[in-house]
This record gives sequence, structure tokens and C-alpha cells, in this order.
Amino acid sequence: MKITVCKDYDEMSRRAGEIIVRQMQKKPDSVLGFATGSTPIGLYQYLVKAYEEGKIDFSKITTFNLDEYIGLPPDHEQSYHYFMEENLFSKVNLPKEAIHFPAVEGELSGKGYDKAIEDAGGIDIQILGIGRDGHMAFVEPGEKLSIFTGKYDLLPSTIEDNARFFKSREEVPTKAVTMGMGTIMRARKLLILANGEAKRDAVSQVMEGDHVSTLCPVTFALMHPDASLIVDEEAAGYR
Ligand code: PGA
Repeated sequence: MKITVCKDYDEMSRRAGEIIVRQMQKKPDSVLGFATGSTPIGLYQYLVKAYEEGKIDFSKITTFNLDEYIGLPPDHEQSYHYFMEENLFSKVNLPKEAIHFPAVEGELSGKGYDKAIEDAGGIDIQILGIGRDGHMAFVEPGEKLSIFTGKYDLLPSTIEDNARFFKSREEVPTKAVTMGMGTIMRARKLLILANGEAKRDAVSQVMEGDHVSTLCPVTFALMHPDASLIVDEEAAGYR
């Protein structure tokens, strides 16, 4: 695991952005795995700027998002479809047919999503945030972690954390579809981002670096052959 501690959120976003830009320049038909949440917003702003400056081109890129709530229509402003549209997709030249989200039913549900990723050649870089409880995507801590894409119940702490985006806690969906731990681990590179004090516990388990635990799913990334963790000083516990 390569760990980079940045001064602040902006530096974290820039460092991550530089990695994605280099990947897209090296391989214009890259397969990118995208994450939602507050953490990668700065990274997407960096990518939009790089696109506007002509440094990157999305016309041959394929994308797979990590997860989506169950029960929100794609045009709901808290759905992850909407989030990606707002923060990145509507601002760059990514073809609509190149965009993929895990689905509740049909071809892109369950193992069908994993197969679609495999058929696309596998994910070159998977961007990931970390939940306060150590989740990656919506793979929540527990006795067992699903290997494949599928449905997960969200833990109360995640529902609480995500309530800030909704009018009330009752409106937050309690279930999601998400890549599984095996799906995530098959990406050729993991780019994990975390900022702020709330992520300190989860980040410290990764920085200790000597164990994995299903109670802190992000620790599984320690066994990935090419994983990078980019955090700010607050998440690292430096201040
Ligand atoms: P956040 O969520 O970026 O909004 O903190 C991260 C996550 O839950 O994976």
C-alpha cells in the first residue's frame, strides 16, 4: 500500500487527479471505476478542468460506478446517477453508452455487473472513498463481506452519515446495490481517498498495515498489489 499524506483536501484531490490524468493520457480507452460521496468532488473538478484545458479526452473511456441506492429514481438529486451527471458526466465528452451503474435487476445486476466489467477488460483504476465505519463502496462491516456485486443493507452509522444530504433521516434509503469486495479487488489499481477527522479511525487501521478485518472492509485493500491511499493530515491524525 502506497500512502500519501497531503496538507489538505485540495492537495489530496490534485494528487488523485494527476494519477487519473496520467492514466487517461497513457491509455485513452481506459476503464475507470468511479465513486460518489463528498470525498471525490474535488477530484472530479480537477478532471473537468483538465478536460476543458484539452489535456484529457473521455470519448473512448468506459466507466463503472461502485454503487447506487435502492429506491431512488436516477433523476433523484441524491441518487448516484444524478451525482455523477452533476459532478462529471454532463461536463465532459463521455458517451452515455460508456457509463455503467450496478442495477437491482437485469443484465447489470449481481454477477452480471461483474461480468460486464470483465467483458470491458477490467477496471484500470478504481477510485474509492472510505466510510466512517471503514466501508468501501457500500460493502459494510460485518461477519461476512460479499465477493460479488449485490444488495447490501446500510448500517445505521452510514444512514446517519448520509442523512446530511437528505431532508430527513427517514428519507435516506436503507439498501443499496454495490460492487462486492472481490469486484473491487479485481481492479488493477485502487485509488483510495479520505479527508477529515471523521475518517481517522478507519484510516489508522490501514496505516497500521498489519491486519485485515471484515469489520473494517477498507483493510482488504492492504492485500491489493497496487493500492494507493491518499489522505489529508486530518484523516491521517497529524493534526
Ligand atoms: P463521503 O463518503 O465521501 O461522503 O465521506 C465516503 C463513503 O461513504 O465511501
